[in-house]
Amino acid sequence: MQGKVGIIGAGLVGAAAGYLLANVPGVSEVVLLDVDLARARSEAADIAHAAAFGSPALVRAGDYADLAGTQVVVVTAGASLKPGQTRLDLLAANVGVVSSVLQQVLAVVPDTVLLFATNPVDVMPAVAVRRFGVPPGRAIGTGCALDSARFRDRLARHLGVSPSSVHANVLGEHGDTEVLHWSGAQVAGMPLLDFAEKLGHPLPAEVRDTIVKEVRTSAYRIKEGKGVSNFGIGGCIARLTRAIVNDEHVVFSTSTFMEELLGVPETCISLPHVLSAQGASQPFLPPLDRGEEIALRHSAEVLRKAIQRGLA
Ligand code: LAC
Repeated sequence: MQGKVGIIGAGLVGAAAGYLLANVPGVSEVVLLDVDLARARSEAADIAHAAAFGSPALVRAGDYADLAGTQVVVVTAGASLKPGQTRLDLLAANVGVVSSVLQQVLAVVPDTVLLFATNPVDVMPAVAVRRFGVPPGRAIGTGCALDSARFRDRLARHLGVSPSSVHANVLGEHGDTEVLHWSGAQVAGMPLLDFAEKLGHPLPAEVRDTIVKEVRTSAYRIKEGKGVSNFGIGGCIARLTRAIVNDEHVVFSTSTFMEELLGVPETCISLPHVLSAQGASQPFLPPLDRGEEIALRHSAEVLRKAIQRGLA
């Protein structure tokens, strides 16, 4: 059904996504699933009460049969990062959870678009493609779409311009090996560093290094303070789902499974994709400087190994 979205996992991430999705134009129904049915029902009821202030979307809890007709199924189920962990530390536990979820989702809606947020998020599209035969374009990881928003937000604050005027992507692993694509970043139709210089807010190497560290460790710092990051990823899920539901043909840095990238076989990292009602387009590898290419190849290799371990 046009605009019907399922969310698997009604924890803090799934609930944040559900709350935002209820107010996304084009989303007509949100179905929340969780192993804890009481939690799914309570979150759905709470979100529905907020939606009663003006959103036309129907929000309810359900089970797998209630996913019939969904255009997009968002997967947030699984363990979340604990202090001191990396996202890849969640591999063994969460590949099992996501495999079980996919078995049940695909039995009801084999042709739905899958949007993964469960970490290590870049491994999950590979599980869908390699274990369940889902076409790569219909198994999308939120990947570095969130990191790219963090990068644009940080640059915007440095420059004093709106994030919507900063075109900058993060590529690679949604994690410690991610690559901030400085050489491709632009503002006002010119290279970012030139614009920053002309504006009087230059971005010398030491400032760039600080920004890289801040963007890469955003989630860890948020978790130290509040235990979980949920609104950033919730907003990311809502924006990517909106692009699919409304057939926007808009570009985001998301992850899909690739037979080969930069000489690395069977990997899954974030590159720019066009998102539409069909899901994600082929990935587009932008021009990279030498350092970026080396770093991106390393990121692809880290994910190749993680996928190999996860599917073993
Ligand atoms: C983060 C989690 C979603 O980056 O990986 O906030």
